Amino acid sequence: MDFKSEIQRGIPTELPPKKERSSAVSHAPNRKQILYKEEKQLAIRNALRYFKAHWHAVLAPEFAEELQTYGRIYMYRFQPSYDMHARAISDYPAQTAHAAAIMLMIQNNLDPAVAQHPQELITYGGNGAVFQNWAQYLLTMQYLSEMTDEQTLHIYSGHPMGLFPSSKEAPRVVVTNGMMIPNYSKQDDWEKYNALGVTQYGQMTAGSYMYIGPQGIVHGTAITVMNAFRKVLNADENPNGKIFLTAGLGGMSGAQPKAGNIAGCITICAEVNPLAAKKRHEQGWVDELIDDLDVLVTRTKEATSKNEIVSLAFIGNVVDVWEKFYAEELFIHLGSDQTSLHNPWAGGYYPVGLTFEESNEMINQDPDAFKTKVQESLRRHAEAINLHTARGTYFFDYGNAFLLEASRAGADVMAANEIDFKYPSYVQDILGPMCFDYGFGPFRWVCSSGKIEDLQKTDAIALCVLKEIKKKAPAEIQQQLSDNIKWISEAEQNNLVVGSKARILYADAEGRAKIALAFNEAIENGELSAPLILGRDHHDVSGTDSPYRETSNIYDGSKFTADMAIHNVIGDSFRGATWVSIHNGGGVGWGEVTNGGFGMVLDGSKDAARKLKNMLFYDVNNGIARRSWARNKEAMFALKREMERTKTLKITFPTLVADKLLEDLF
Ligand SMILES: NC(=O)c1ccc[n+]([C@@H]2O[C@H](COP(=O)([O-])OP(=O)(O)OC[C@H]3O[C@@H](n4cnc5c(N)ncnc54)[C@H](O)[C@@H]3O)[C@@H](O)[C@H]2O)c1
Repeated sequence: MDFKSEIQRGIPTELPPKKERSSAVSHAPNRKQILYKEEKQLAIRNALRYFKAHWHAVLAPEFAEELQTYGRIYMYRFQPSYDMHARAISDYPAQTAHAAAIMLMIQNNLDPAVAQHPQELITYGGNGAVFQNWAQYLLTMQYLSEMTDEQTLHIYSGHPMGLFPSSKEAPRVVVTNGMMIPNYSKQDDWEKYNALGVTQYGQMTAGSYMYIGPQGIVHGTAITVMNAFRKVLNADENPNGKIFLTAGLGGMSGAQPKAGNIAGCITICAEVNPLAAKKRHEQGWVDELIDDLDVLVTRTKEATSKNEIVSLAFIGNVVDVWEKFYAEELFIHLGSDQTSLHNPWAGGYYPVGLTFEESNEMINQDPDAFKTKVQESLRRHAEAINLHTARGTYFFDYGNAFLLEASRAGADVMAANEIDFKYPSYVQDILGPMCFDYGFGPFRWVCSSGKIEDLQKTDAIALCVLKEIKKKAPAEIQQQLSDNIKWISEAEQNNLVVGSKARILYADAEGRAKIALAFNEAIENGELSAPLILGRDHHDVSGTDSPYRETSNIYDGSKFTADMAIHNVIGDSFRGATWVSIHNGGGVGWGEVTNGGFGMVLDGSKDAARKLKNMLFYDVNNGIARRSWARNKEAMFALKREMERTKTLKITFPTLVADKLLEDLF
């Protein structure tokens, strides 16, 4: 059966043969057994509702076995027969190009070259799912292939509820992931309700189909590492030969060595999973693989003495590196961590002292003992970091819930006031004040033709627009614009593309709208050969309320509210987004964050031009308004500037209060 027919068929009409799991790809760790007998029966009943009754006798024991073995029902048998990767938009069977664009994005998120555990439909972050099972994938693709511009597909945590009549102005797809009644957002609630097949952890760009491989994160990571070095070095120094020590070579964390090379330092990145380390090495994202601590020390000393720019992957536990480097008196300029501590008990963080295999076995066999090991390891991890920071290392939390989980484990990471952490998050110190408050965030686009020439043209257009903007930009954002101009000028030679032909570029509201408009014109006049798909990471100015990450530099007490993210998704949906999504739990963990995003197809039409202006403006300025109301001075500056430019924008401004007045009150 050809590709198009297989998509249009949805769930096969004949029962396909049973499929074994592939040993060529990485698999999600077996999830813990959390369901009681009756709940397991409910999980099977839930899974079987996708299929004809006369298949149930075959599928029920098979799904029961998956549930017993892996802790989830993935329905491996129903994986499609075609290769999974993004194709050119014209290859998809569809009534509307907008639906075809979404299919392309879904397939990219599941491409084995892109996805972390492709057969479990996990794109990144250990548990960031596109769908819960293969039936949901098949049905969604079928719905997309038949939908018109007057219908909207509603997706509940991977489950396509179906097509509802709507209008051309409405989004084609509305996605929710993991939205829970607030009291049911503890980590075990995800285990339970995901095992039952009624919710999923969509992370940020996994369940919203906007993941573009580690490139998506390299730019933000490069900005962070460059600015962290600017903080610790004198103006006449550069990062060459200076050490950035961190961990994780997974979906997002795999960007760190590349970002370190761009920033010009020595990156040492520990990774316990040899497959993950090798994958990044093969893709050229990290320069050298080392699996022996002594060899690592020798190589690091050589690199520091020669002022090298190099990235070294250490296959092993990061705690061992922190401890060893202390003993060897190796000075670490920057330290961070990107293990998946948003998911600490199910394979996000591997405790020191256990091998990778021992940990995976314990997660499944003895989850309580594993939890104890993780907490012991976190205490040791923090202790080693504290020793280094006492020597002058600048350590920052990379938004992976490291400090949060370490504090919960009783590690020495609290500040003297016992409320704050000892160390800042990268958003508090860097991305918040320098980027988000001014509206700069991870704007991105995908060339739906799949052609590299289109990507090259978009790079050139974006560069031209940024240079124009920079000429008249105020001093406050000159540095950001320079960094972004450098990024887009070097993007191609940095060889960042994995999967679809995509590009990320930090830009503010003005930049995003002007670049998008120029793209739309280039499509209209044939300079670009096919539509473009715009989007962004949820890790942005307005889309995400996350008190330990995106909104960690909000100090008016509102960082534990989620109004901004909800307004954003609703606001984007009626201003022209092609699809919108809102998620519980991404990055820092289930229950710890509400985040949303959009996708927008540019087809060169007047409608697209109108929609992009309207939606991109709101998508950025919503967050600036909230940040300004929280009295962030950079956001107040950006908002005043925008209100001068846009007369229809009228935002409530905060009045600042003299400290002295308050001191005398209580
Ligand atoms: N890159 C960014 O800009 C960014 C921004 C915010 C948050 N984060 C957070 O970073 C974390 C990582 O994301 P990801 O997508 O790369 O997750 P991932 O699960 O794909 O990768 C994490 C990697 O860490 C490894 N690991 C776990 N414990 C280890 C240990 N003790 N020593 C060495 N390696 C260990 C795992 O084997 C895994 O490969 C997430 O919590 C994410 O939310 C990243």
